[in-house]
Amino acid sequence: MKQKLIFTNLVGQAIDTLVAELGTPQVVVVTDTNTAQFVLPIIVNDSKVVASAKLITIKSGDSNKTLDELKNVWMRLAESEASRNTVVINIGGGVVSDLGGFAAATFKRGLRYINVPTTVLGAVDAATGGKTGINFNGLKNQIGAFAEPEAAIISTIFFNTLPQQQILSGYAEMLKHGLLENPDVLGKLLAFSPVYPVFNSEAMMPLLQDSVMVKANIVDQDLTESGLRKALNLGHTIGHALEAFAFKHQNPIPHGYAVAWGLVTELILSHTLQNFPSDEVHRFAQYVKTNYGAFPITCDDYPELIAAMRQDKKNANADSINFTLLKAIGEPVLNVVATPEQITAALDLYRDLLGLA
Ligand code: GLY
Repeated sequence: MKQKLIFTNLVGQAIDTLVAELGTPQVVVVTDTNTAQFVLPIIVNDSKVVASAKLITIKSGDSNKTLDELKNVWMRLAESEASRNTVVINIGGGVVSDLGGFAAATFKRGLRYINVPTTVLGAVDAATGGKTGINFNGLKNQIGAFAEPEAAIISTIFFNTLPQQQILSGYAEMLKHGLLENPDVLGKLLAFSPVYPVFNSEAMMPLLQDSVMVKANIVDQDLTESGLRKALNLGHTIGHALEAFAFKHQNPIPHGYAVAWGLVTELILSHTLQNFPSDEVHRFAQYVKTNYGAFPITCDDYPELIAAMRQDKKNANADSINFTLLKAIGEPVLNVVATPEQITAALDLYRDLLGLA
């Protein structure tokens, strides 16, 4: 494993220790406008390194994961006279770690970088595993590189003030990791409430740790997604289709919500095609219904959703729709092809289970 994973709420201290270990005095912090305003002051208080680092601030939001913002970061790195000894510290959510990581990976053929995620989705997914990049030509993550960070510092201290939707959005990726790992990890996740006022960010730390390790173990075996890493696409073939459909109909939904509903539908498909136990489908669907509600679709929407699934970049050709499914909790099966009829039946059951039909 190249990336070092540090789980701590003493973030400033961890950054200073890590930079000392890396033996470099030259540090550039990449962050975004939101994080610079609300989070950075907390870290600056506890970290001499961050307090004295050069700061590059990009605009917040996925719509700014662009070539223009990337160019700005490259320009600022050049103005800062960044060298191969410079360490870039990305402090923020997925946009910051994706764009900042790609800027680091490409500037002077590669600078070392550290991720400090400040959102649940960032901590559990974007900040580890080395997928970096930007959106391009209207498509997400079209330009990028696999480049692992030196380290990710994973903490929960920034989560207490996050909007409810953002917590649930990240939590869906944790549920996915639980499904991929084992009944114990999944059981703990289903027993936890990520919903205010019950939500307690500190109590989430052990769950977060389990979850990040599930992903790290997979990435360790297959960084470039030639095999096993495809397991991390569980829930995403249908999830991405729902996300694209919602966006097109001016009703955008957070990524993780789409994943939660995608997971329910892909567990139904797993039952049909891989004998995944139906009681587990029901238990999982109930949790999603309670916490995420349901994305409203009717059978008239199926052709458009299935067309969106055909566009998924995991399909080798547009004639087949390819899924990662489960035989059982902890037993993923890669590259399962489902027919439009099977997907239609699964969407019908999604609507039944989540109370839409
Ligand atoms: N987000 C899934 C992966 O990193 O492969």
